[in-house]
Amino acid sequence: MASVKLTKVKKVYDNNVVAVHDFDLDIKDKEFVVFVGPSGCGKSTTLRMIAGLEEISDGTVEIDGEVVNDLQPKDRNIAMVFQNYALYPHMTVYDNIAFSLRLQKVPEDVIYEKVTNAAEILGITEYLLRKPRALSGGQRQRVAIGRAMVRNSKVFLMDEPLSNLDAKLRNQMRAEIILLRQKLDTTFIYVTHDQTEAMTLGDRIVIMKDGYIQQVGTPTEVFEMPKNLFVAEFIGAPKMNIIRTELVKEGGNYYVKPFGVKMIADGVKGEMLKAKGAEAGEVLLGVRPEHIQLAHAGDANAIPVTLEVNEMMGSELHLHVYTEDGTRLIVRIPTIDLEPGEREKLVSGHKMYITFQGKVMHFFNAETEENLLND
Ligand SMILES: Nc1ncnc2c1ncn2[C@@H]1O[C@H](COP(=O)(O)OP(=O)(O)O)[C@@H](O)[C@H]1O
Ligand SMILES: [Mg+2]
Repeated sequence: MASVKLTKVKKVYDNNVVAVHDFDLDIKDKEFVVFVGPSGCGKSTTLRMIAGLEEISDGTVEIDGEVVNDLQPKDRNIAMVFQNYALYPHMTVYDNIAFSLRLQKVPEDVIYEKVTNAAEILGITEYLLRKPRALSGGQRQRVAIGRAMVRNSKVFLMDEPLSNLDAKLRNQMRAEIILLRQKLDTTFIYVTHDQTEAMTLGDRIVIMKDGYIQQVGTPTEVFEMPKNLFVAEFIGAPKMNIIRTELVKEGGNYYVKPFGVKMIADGVKGEMLKAKGAEAGEVLLGVRPEHIQLAHAGDANAIPVTLEVNEMMGSELHLHVYTEDGTRLIVRIPTIDLEPGEREKLVSGHKMYITFQGKVMHFFNAETEENLLND
């Protein structure tokens, strides 16, 4: 059992930098929570305050209902894995994993049991007698995780554990962390700047910016209903297209006029606009690249654009286009959806048409940048 609760947690560093403001979060037992945001937004500071590696300036951190603000890191029952895995180079993998247990004077037979069990789960049994320098980056990271695993901690903290790995290995380790989580069945708090990691690993995601929480939600919630423009652009890749336009209400329906093309805001979002009685006026219309389709001249709602760059990604194309008023948009098209002969035409300078449907639209207040559909 380990729940973690942060109440109005604040961090002010000596140089008066306020790294974290009024951080409120209730993490349930066995939940996998990811803190995500750009570099410098306060993720590591928050994690280090939970671990006891950084003093808490204000507010409280509770583990299983007990305030731990004044507890030493070793008394918090927490295990932490860092980006630079900091293994002891002169020790074997076995001794690295056993290190903290030996400090605690755990009997050698119990240590053996725990180390071999962790090695088994992590698939590093055959490397136990090697030194870290004889391991790949991914293997070293597994040793660092093993070191944290053997301590029977109630909470597992990970700060960008995959950032030092190359892209292929990162994908593989991401899958392994999902498996590890199933095996360990403990509470995880995971820090990353990578939205893909956040989306794939988290039961819930905490999106941060400048020391403030922007949104807390499941991957689906933050993707489908981003609270503000920052979250909308941070989650999803390539990022959401943003179009400054007018929201108008006519005959009980809402319409937008991106690039002078009048489109009805229908579907679930349209219904929600109606239910809220959203105010007409200037809005930031958000459309994800994968929600735009190619169209033909004369189609209803066809927006004329010029192709600037065609990025061939394999199973899909990322088309960078600009509209007649010079607005740049990104369009993501599955290669398999292209009509015969169409692909060859998609070169720089090609004149084409795009469109999208009402149900994929997001609406943000042009001044506050808040989602118009927020409660
Ligand atoms: N020891 C420190 N002293 C002063 N400022 C710090 C210290 N550590 C981090 N900061 C500042 O606090 C803010 C948050 O940093 P950090 O928590 O490391 O962000 P993240 O992990 O999201 O990249 C940044 O502005 C950073 O420069
Ligand atoms: Mg950090």
